[in-house]
Amino acid sequence: MSSAIYPGSFDPVTNGHLDIIERTAAIFDKVTVAILINSSKTPTFTVEERIDMLKKATAHIPNVEIEFFDGLLVDFVRSKNANVIIKGLRAVSDFEYEFQMAMLNKSVAPDIETLFMMTGNKYSYLSSSIVKELGRLGAPVDEFVPQAIMDNVTEKLRKDRKEK
Ligand code: PNS
Repeated sequence: MSSAIYPGSFDPVTNGHLDIIERTAAIFDKVTVAILINSSKTPTFTVEERIDMLKKATAHIPNVEIEFFDGLLVDFVRSKNANVIIKGLRAVSDFEYEFQMAMLNKSVAPDIETLFMMTGNKYSYLSSSIVKELGRLGAPVDEFVPQAIMDNVTEKLRKDRKEK
């Protein structure tokens, strides 16, 4: 059985992420979407909220599971008996950082491959940070996040805005 790991912060999951998840699920028998810690980011949504949103957003895809792991990505990949990491690339600007991570992961785990999937054209400008900025400023985010999590996102960002 072929399986792939799609890691990220997913703070929150966007339509761009969902596009990558759907396309990966069409290629591999099983896709594990893994929420991992990005030490250079301070998340807005809790791990539980992010798991809940990913579960809602992917409820229509039978071969997808959602997990959280507080450790190295390659250790998680091994724990799932997988050897493929999927990363989305939006633009050339993503490349340098992703290239560095792929090289680093390859040096510590030569048996694990990172495969890059180009983002869908209409999502090339989209990021979780942009969604958060729009939501906090009271702009609609319905074009950018899955319908199933719209209330979770707008409610949290509205509260966030009030507290600041
Ligand atoms: O969505 P993001 O924030 O770009 O995802 C980055 C993430 C979480 C995949 C990356 O920070 C990661 O792999 N974190 C786990 C810890 C790890 O393995 N670090 C070394 C990889 S360079």
